[in-house]
Amino acid sequence: MEQKEIASREDIELLVNSFYDKVKADDLIGFIFNDIAKVDWPHHLPIMYDFWESLLLDTGKYGRNAMEPHFELNKKIQLQPAHFGRWLQLFEATISEHFTGEKAELAVTRARSIKGIMSLKMEKINNPEM
Ligand code: HEM
Repeated sequence: MEQKEIASREDIELLVNSFYDKVKADDLIGFIFNDIAKVDWPHHLPIMYDFWESLLLDTGKYGRNAMEPHFELNKKIQLQPAHFGRWLQLFEATISEHFTGEKAELAVTRARSIKGIMSLKMEKINNPEM
């Protein structure tokens, strides 16, 4: 497949859709989305398009709290470093399959950084003695 720059809403949609195709089929984290959170995809996907469009194309469309649903989810299943590791691996694989260029690199940088913060927050909640 030919890689392209991330330059439009359509590119963002391709990124998000391809990423969640991998997530849903994944043996380590798929069940969290499918069976525990039972994600309402038609509701969730447009939120994720807005999120990544804001981060990568500066459109300011996302004005929600990205951490909050993860704290709620973590009450149902403790999110582990291995889960976050796989999440990032699938994200990076999606980017390198489809995209190239500065925005593609920015997407990976942003994903790594938010993943790092989120993973650390959950580790602290889940291991209060740490
Ligand atoms: C193992 C890791 C992760 C799991 C299992 C996970 C799972 C979920 C679930 C179940 C939702 C709620 C979907 C719904 O509304 O029903 C969600 C929302 C979201 N996730 Fe994650 N997530 C993970 C990591 C991340 C990371 C690292 C990021 C940052 C790039 C991220 C960004 C978001 C955003 C922006 C939302 C939407 C929040 C909103 O409602 O505004 N997630 N995630």
